[in-house]
Amino acid sequence: MFGLLLLFLFSISPCFAKSDCVVSNFQVKENFNKTRYAGKWHAFAKKDPVGIFLESNIHAEFKIENETMTAKATGLVTLLPEWIVCAEMMGTFNNTEDPAKFKLKYWGAAEHLQKGNDDHWIIDTDYDNYAITYTCRKLNDNGTCADSYSFVFSRDPKGLTSESQRVVRKWQDHLCLAYRYRRVAQTGACP
Ligand SMILES: *[C@@H]1O[C@H](CO)[C@@H](O)[C@H](O)[C@H]1NC(C)=O
Ligand SMILES: *[C@@H]1O[C@H](CO)[C@@H](O)[C@H](O)[C@H]1NC(C)=O
Ligand SMILES: *[C@@H]1O[C@H](CO)[C@@H](O)[C@H](O)[C@H]1NC(C)=O
Ligand SMILES: *[C@@H]1O[C@H](CO)[C@@H](O)[C@H](O)[C@H]1NC(C)=O
Repeated sequence: MFGLLLLFLFSISPCFAKSDCVVSNFQVKENFNKTRYAGKWHAFAKKDPVGIFLESNIHAEFKIENETMTAKATGLVTLLPEWIVCAEMMGTFNNTEDPAKFKLKYWGAAEHLQKGNDDHWIIDTDYDNYAITYTCRKLNDNGTCADSYSFVFSRDPKGLTSESQRVVRKWQDHLCLAYRYRRVAQTGACP
């Protein structure tokens, strides 16, 4: 009886290892192919880090130049309560030994926007419909994350199919971020 139950559990989620929330143990996309990832993605949902972050109407265009992935992202951001702008952010994704793990250097097209360096991991994607990315900015002593952000992207600006959403939810759980995401409004405010 118990054996049957285990068999059932493993058969519905063969590729999702139970997570211990230690960042270095998180799985990322195997054999990630950035050529297939290139092009436009629309943010469907996100989990915010501490501090200022793009809020809504987020979309990003990825390109490969000389084996290096770059991106231009646009989104609405509130810099001050009365100062809401469509921000344009640029990023360069340096390769590492793992093809799905990048060192992201980002900067704003305008002076007043943030700049910095982050890890940027592609946790999973099917290239044609959905992608889920993960960044941990600060680790706890026990290896879990103290400050993270994550995007769920969709190729279709109208959103993800329920099938893709099911896959994405399992990865959110794997990242120990279940129920921490909010939908990203796409109202056409930042074309
Ligand atoms: C990545 O995808 C492109 C486009 O589909 C393909 O031409 C290329 O061979 C792939 N690269 C690897 C390493 O699989
Ligand atoms: C790509 O490499 C070529 C040849 O090394 C160089 O001329 C060009 O400036 C590079 N482009 C970028 C965007 O780095
Ligand atoms: C990315 O690579 C460039 C060129 O190798 C280097 O100058 C830069 O510091 C690197 N950036 C990051 C965030 O690792
Ligand atoms: C790891 O440390 C954080 C922060 O101190 C704590 O909230 C969390 O419960 C710890 N997790 C584990 C698995 O020990």
